[in-house]
Amino acid sequence: MDRYLVFGHPVRHSKSPFIHTLFARQTQQELEYGLAEPAVDEFAQALRTFFDQGGKGCNVTVPFKEQAFTLVDCLSPRAKRAGAVNTIKLTDDGVLLGDNTDGAGLVADLKSHGVTLADSRILLLGAGGAARGALAPLLAELPSELVIANRTHTKAQQLAAEFHDLGPVIAQTYEQLAGPFDLVINSTSASLQGELPPLAPALIHTDIAIYDMMYGASDTAFISWAKQHGARQTMDGLGMLVEQAAEAFTVWRGIRPGTKQVLRELKRNLGVI
Ligand code: ATR
Repeated sequence: MDRYLVFGHPVRHSKSPFIHTLFARQTQQELEYGLAEPAVDEFAQALRTFFDQGGKGCNVTVPFKEQAFTLVDCLSPRAKRAGAVNTIKLTDDGVLLGDNTDGAGLVADLKSHGVTLADSRILLLGAGGAARGALAPLLAELPSELVIANRTHTKAQQLAAEFHDLGPVIAQTYEQLAGPFDLVINSTSASLQGELPPLAPALIHTDIAIYDMMYGASDTAFISWAKQHGARQTMDGLGMLVEQAAEAFTVWRGIRPGTKQVLRELKRNLGVI
């Protein structure tokens, strides 16, 4: 049976096996999908061993995405832009192809929520790996402006300069931000510590869409905060997780699974509904 897995550390709580097993059932593909948690300095060896032993493809998550970028034989254009790899496929001619489906997953999830990206003014919070992966797919949707704000301003400036050729992207400090924005995407890891990015409440209004790439069984700190200040449309990263997985599954199997039912089952599994 064709074997796939996700590499991460820690990865025990990953939902990827659950999601891909449902995709396989739905599309009647024979495959198994497992977990691998190599020590941080043993990822390269573990990756090699997996493919030497007949593995067909894998996902890569924190903290290995940047390392995976350096270990594959060739990169998709979107992985090159993201500077990170979350999906690897062993092609029929034995080449390890590195891809990145995170940004496509974000855009697909935003669209499935009915969020309009074309001509919209987008605020992207954070300038780490998650922000970098999102930039090219967001700019491909032709927003009127994309503003990056980050605690460490120089990192936002670097990112804006790097992606400037793809569309109207600028960096501003949190203090410089001036509304209105149509969409705010939180790519920071602040919610992990229960913290908030230092965003002025005045930037939140009833018609704004709020997206937090993080997710949990209850609202993230950022989503709670945005609701408190009047945001009516809030979304967490669970849908992005399912959509990036669907994109990876499509890369591997050449068949696109449906995501709605899988997302519902995942929510049930997490106790969200
Ligand atoms: P990831 O790969 O998830 O993007 P990362 O590369 O470590 O992780 O980036 C984390 C991002 O969250 C950074 O933009 C970080 O800001 P700095 O560049 O200033 O470190 C941001 N971040 C983390 N905690 C934050 C907090 N409490 N408030 C605001 N931004 C925060």
